[in-house]
Amino acid sequence: MIAAPTRAGKSYFVGACVEQLYDAEEPFIVLDTKTSNHIGLQELPNVKKIQMKPGLKYNWDKLTDYDYLLCVPTLRTKTADLIDLYRDLVDAVFTEPGERHIIVEEAHNWNRNSSVPDSLLELVAREGAGRRKLLWFVTQRLQDFPKLLWSQCGYTYLFKHSIPQDIRYIEQMIPDFTQINRKLNKHDVLIWDHGSQDLEGQIVPAADVTRRTPHRG
Ligand SMILES: Nc1ncnc2c1ncn2[C@@H]1O[C@H](COP(=O)(O)OP(=O)(O)O)[C@@H](O)[C@H]1O
Ligand SMILES: [Mg+2]
Repeated sequence: MIAAPTRAGKSYFVGACVEQLYDAEEPFIVLDTKTSNHIGLQELPNVKKIQMKPGLKYNWDKLTDYDYLLCVPTLRTKTADLIDLYRDLVDAVFTEPGERHIIVEEAHNWNRNSSVPDSLLELVAREGAGRRKLLWFVTQRLQDFPKLLWSQCGYTYLFKHSIPQDIRYIEQMIPDFTQINRKLNKHDVLIWDHGSQDLEGQIVPAADVTRRTPHRG
């Protein structure tokens, strides 16, 4: 889970992580929500960029032959249509044999509401790890995101929060978040391991999050 208010640095950070996946030759698919290709990365050799347009026929099984996939909407693609297309793609990725990181931008938009998770995301979250399908949720609206799905995450990456209501909400999962949050500077990333007894987490300073492809945020 990567969560923070808008402009905190989520996409910049996710882009840096995906660059590392690329260097490690780990297959990924980025489901971006901005036409500008917010996350970047298209400059990397062998990264296949796909523009998602409702009404077009895609050969999903063929597309998943690419190891490095970057999906962006066209200017006129509405959010609901985009998510329908992305569901077909995630379904194809889920059933393919190999390993794949699946990066879902604006993941809150997939769910009916905060207590009803999207059934496909729930399935991939539950069965995905065994099939080496690793979901990454990116959201600026954590409170609108089903806690059921959040609690299944292995790690949460948080940035500085300023709205008290958001901080209190996060404390339901990370008890000392108020104190930790005070230590965070702009674009710093708190890494919180859901399985560990280390309730402080680890802070990555903004300066250590570096990009090699341009970010268009
Ligand atoms: N670690 C960082 N160092 C320098 N600039 C950053 C860093 N993280 C984010 N930024 C800048 O902050 C702005 C917002 O980042 P972005 O990732 O687009 O935010 P979000 O996705 O959370 O809305 C961008 O202009 C980006 O270049
Ligand atoms: Mg973003």
